[in-house]
Amino acid sequence: MNITVLGTGYVGIVSAAVLADFGHNIWGLDIDPKRVENLKKGKSPIYEPGLEELLQKGLENQKLQFTTDYGQALEKTDIIFICVGTPQAESGEVELKYVYSAIEQIAKNLQNPSLIVLKSTVPPGIHLKLKEIMDQNTKVSYEFASTPEFLREGTAVSDTFNPDRIIIGTESEKAQNTLLEIHKGLPGKRLCTDIISAQMIKYASNSFLACKISFANAIARICDLLGANVLDVMQGIGMDNRIGEKFLSPGLGFGGSCFPKDIKGLYFLSKQAGYDFKLLDEVSEINDSQVAYYLTKTEKIIGNFADKNITILGLAFKPDTDDMRESRTIPLVNELLEKGAKITAYDPIATETAKVVFGDKIIYAKDKFEAIRDCDILILATDWNEFKNMDLVKIKQLMKGNIFVDGRNLYNPKDLKQFGFVYVGIGRI
Ligand code: UGA
Repeated sequence: MNITVLGTGYVGIVSAAVLADFGHNIWGLDIDPKRVENLKKGKSPIYEPGLEELLQKGLENQKLQFTTDYGQALEKTDIIFICVGTPQAESGEVELKYVYSAIEQIAKNLQNPSLIVLKSTVPPGIHLKLKEIMDQNTKVSYEFASTPEFLREGTAVSDTFNPDRIIIGTESEKAQNTLLEIHKGLPGKRLCTDIISAQMIKYASNSFLACKISFANAIARICDLLGANVLDVMQGIGMDNRIGEKFLSPGLGFGGSCFPKDIKGLYFLSKQAGYDFKLLDEVSEINDSQVAYYLTKTEKIIGNFADKNITILGLAFKPDTDDMRESRTIPLVNELLEKGAKITAYDPIATETAKVVFGDKIIYAKDKFEAIRDCDILILATDWNEFKNMDLVKIKQLMKGNIFVDGRNLYNPKDLKQFGFVYVGIGRI
């Protein structure tokens, strides 16, 4: 099939590369010329395991091409996947300017009857407004559909090849069959529904996962008060199939470009629609206060952070990505700097993106040992594999102090005590 993927962010590049791998002819379309030039050379603007190899394969097979030109991309296209960003506006509302301008350009350049598939996370029902823009600008026939994306950063390529489920929202059997056909080679369950419900599934999924994490963090705080071990508690509740064991790891909280934005987006949408979804407000509230919770706990031990040398291990919002968006390390670093601390940080991949956020306010080390040398306090902020089984004897020798703040609950407090550390975690005994 001839497909245009519009927007070459996380979802767009990965979808384009995977669809090309399935033998479709793909145009990756983006308004950013620099990004498109790099993509034409097989260079990905984001770090994502396996992505560059897949891009290069698509380019070599001539199944994948990139352009900034709507006319060129849409010349033979009959299916368009919209993958542009839908960030959060200051009001909390979903910012739709990229979607609107993409639709306007599509309408002006549409040449063949087309299926326009919304993959971006958009307010359920927005296609009704988008239809008005289309109708004002084109006479070519078109239809909207929606296939929300569930890939995770850091595992985006393997998630796209191995989805749990594919949600197909359409208004006609023809569109439904086209989308079933496009996804034919992929495993996973299929659910065919209407467009509004498909988009609601995306918001509800992300909000539910964020609820699980904040629930685990709230229980961890109660465990601290009562002397229970939150890891055992989470394992115990996760054994109930109705609950499930995933996304119950307490720590500094969730970040990234999706959960924080989508729970606020759904909260806002619900309010506009006439329902006050207070639960989501509380989920954000718990998440937003996790960093302060850790810092207050640490302050109780050390007095204050002024002039303390702090090492932060991990800056990205999660492992295997260089994405800093909404990373919990942003409030962590800012609050520590405000309290007068000096910060040295190390991240295996995200140093360059972190420099854009923190500039020269912190020192960037080349490896974890350089970062740790002579520090008073070590804060483990992102659960990269290389931080999971560190040589604790060596770390203790390199550090000046002995405070180990485990922001991802990776270590056993008893083990750390044996090596001479003072452990600061959450819900651990
Ligand atoms: C999330 C969803 O998991 C994807 O299904 C969805 O497609 C994506 O958002 C999106 O809407 O585009 P992602 O943001 O890449 O994916 O990352 P996750 O693996 O979900 O992690 C999000 C955050 O939650 C990270 O900061 C992670 O450290 C944190 N987390 C996760 C916890 O604090 N505890 C957990 O138990 C799990």
